[in-house]
Order: sequence, then structure tokens, then C-alpha cells
Amino acid sequence: MKAVFLVGGLGTRLRPLTNKTPKPLVPVMGKALLEHNIDKLKFKGVDEIVLCTCYRPESFEEYFSENPSALPIRFVQEKTPLGTGGAIKNVEGFISDEPFLIFNADIISDVDVAEMLRFHEEKGADVTIASVYVDDPTPYGVIEHDENDYATAFKEKPKPSEVVSHYINAGIYIFNPEILEEIPAGRPVSVEREVFPRLLKGGKKLAVYKECSYWLDLGTVEKYLQVHQDIFAGKYLYEQLDFRNSAIIGLENAHVHAEAILRGPLWLGAGAQIEKGAVVGPNVIVGANSVVGEDCTIEHSILWESVKVEPASRIFDSVIMANCLVEEGSTVFRSAYSGEVPKDYAAV
Ligand code: GDD
Ligand code: MG
Repeated sequence: MKAVFLVGGLGTRLRPLTNKTPKPLVPVMGKALLEHNIDKLKFKGVDEIVLCTCYRPESFEEYFSENPSALPIRFVQEKTPLGTGGAIKNVEGFISDEPFLIFNADIISDVDVAEMLRFHEEKGADVTIASVYVDDPTPYGVIEHDENDYATAFKEKPKPSEVVSHYINAGIYIFNPEILEEIPAGRPVSVEREVFPRLLKGGKKLAVYKECSYWLDLGTVEKYLQVHQDIFAGKYLYEQLDFRNSAIIGLENAHVHAEAILRGPLWLGAGAQIEKGAVVGPNVIVGANSVVGEDCTIEHSILWESVKVEPASRIFDSVIMANCLVEEGSTVFRSAYSGEVPKDYAAV
């Protein structure tokens, strides 16, 4: 089975984290989100990954040449953005004659795609869409469905007054290959706004798969922080990392001064250095080769790799991006720090 990942979006709402890195390549505990999502497919009957690239296409080839993926990857670049449906149509030539998977690349979930394929077959569906219940569906695509779990209507990004269902499109689909014939070629097309409603109108069967206990899209910095807190809290099992009992993971490859205080849950990348008197944790990630200076305090925050935090600094609820310098005595609070002017991410 082929798995197509839509990775061409700009990731505007996740700025500044996406200033230099496309959203699917932002690190989650030292590993790009996309690599994690691909690796999970290894024993699920997937034999090839097709990446639909557009924004910063070279970053994907570079990343996977340095970090070989568990599955073979084909890169297909759009010269201009084709939208979600246009991107799928654009890879038609690489799809075989069996059903295939499609993923939005900014989500993390425990949907079992092998189970979802079984459901797709059982339902005799043309398309199956994974769906989750959310309290506020307005930032998403809402799906209405009947008692047999077939979709009856779609509403992308509804106004609060238009919300009639709290089940949303989770951004994971199974398509039968014939469906590609229904997508117009050579122009931008939205799968959510154009293709799904057209399929419904044409009498196709669109099944809604609701078996998912953890789902989050990493659309904003707040959500990006949230997914790490969820991993620490054991709500999502990431890469077999078990943070129960406030575990500290990575200590063996880090350099921690005897008079530093570590509070789990905490993840330390290889070569991370914690100096005398620093208090680090709980819920902190210190990326590879990052240095936390003397007497610093860091809580509920993520340091990417090769960050330098000078002595007596305090960092709370923040993301510090790769290679940044946090100057001595700084206080960083609720910020996404890119080395330029820190921004309150809630205001982005
Ligand atoms: N190749 C390519 N070309 N990829 C694209 C393009 C394009 O022109 N436009 C968007 N993408 C990719 C993005 O990189 C992302 O992985 C995916 O398509 C979805 O785009 P987003 O920009 O993240 O959409 P959204 O978050 O507003 O809404 C979508 O996701 C929600 C779930 O998170 C929709 O599918 C909603 O219906 C859904 O609920
Ligand atoms: Mg999104």
C-alpha cells in the first residue's frame, strides 16, 4: 500500500518555528514529526511513501538523506501550490491499483491504519476519512454522518453558528484509486471544499472512521507545546518513550553537573549540558548539544538543538529554536524564541 503525505503547506500559524523549517520537519524530541509518522507505518502494510512537496522542497530531501527513513520515499514537487486535492491528483502516476493512504502532515495521532483499512473494506467505501470529536470544531473541517457512519455533509471551517457536528476531519484518508478520476487536473483543488462534497453529490460512499483516542494537529505553538506535555503525561506513546514516574530520559549521553537539579519528566538529547545550580524540569526537553548555564531555571519548555542558555536565565512555557543564544539573566515566558525579537506565541 502507498502512503501519500501532503507536506507542501506554508505553516504560517506555527511561525516562527516554521521560518526555516517546514511544519512536518519540526522536531518532536529530537526527531522530525514526519519521520515519526512515517516510521509508524513500517509494519502496517505500507511499502512506499509519496511526499507531495511545495514549500521548501529541498529541506525534505536534505532531512531524509541525513536521517534515512524506515520506508522508501518518493519526492514529488509542485512548482506552484496545487492545494490538498491538486497535490493528490498530481501523484496519480505513482499510485497502484489498490487503496492508498493520504495524510495531512501536521498531525499526530494513534489511528491504526491497518484497522482503518479493514473498516474501509467492511464498509465497501470509496473513501474513508478518519474523524475525531473536538469541543471547538471551527478551525477544522466538520463532517456530518448518518447512523451507519457514512458522511452526509462537509463544512470546512464553519462559523460557530454553523456548527452542527463536533466530528472533524482528522486529516487521514483512504482512497480507492478510481477516485483520482474525480479530481480535476492542472489547477489548485481543495480536497475538503471541492472533492469531498462532489463525491457525496455523485453518490460515492464516504465512510467515517472514529476509532482514535489521541489526536492533535500541531497548527500553533501552543499545540506544539501541548503535544510534548501529552507525551510526558503518557497520553500519547511516542517512540516507545515511557515517562511514567517522572522519568528522565537521555541522562546517559548528557553532561549534568553534580549540583544541578533535574525534575522529571525530562528528555535530554545527546551531548546536552546542564551546569552547576541549574534547575531543569519538569516537562522540559533539552535538545542535543544544548547548554543550560549555571543557576538557570527551565520549566515546561522545549530547547531545540545547540541552544545556549547563559547563566541565571529563566525559561517558562517556551520554545527556544536551534542555535539560539539566550543572554545572561534573561527571562523568557510564553515565547517562541527564534533569536530575533521574541514573540508571545499566543498573539501570533
Ligand atoms: N503538496 C501540498 N500542496 N500540500 C499542501 C498544500 C498544497 O498546495 N496545501 C496544504 N498542504 C498540506 C499541508 O502541509 C498540511 O499537511 C495539509 O496539506 C493540510 O493543510 P493545512 O494548511 O494544515 O490545513 P488545515 O489545518 O487548515 O485544515 C486541514 O486539516 C484539518 C485537521 O488538522 C483540513 O483537512 C481540515 O478539514 C482538517 O480538519
Ligand atoms: Mg493543519
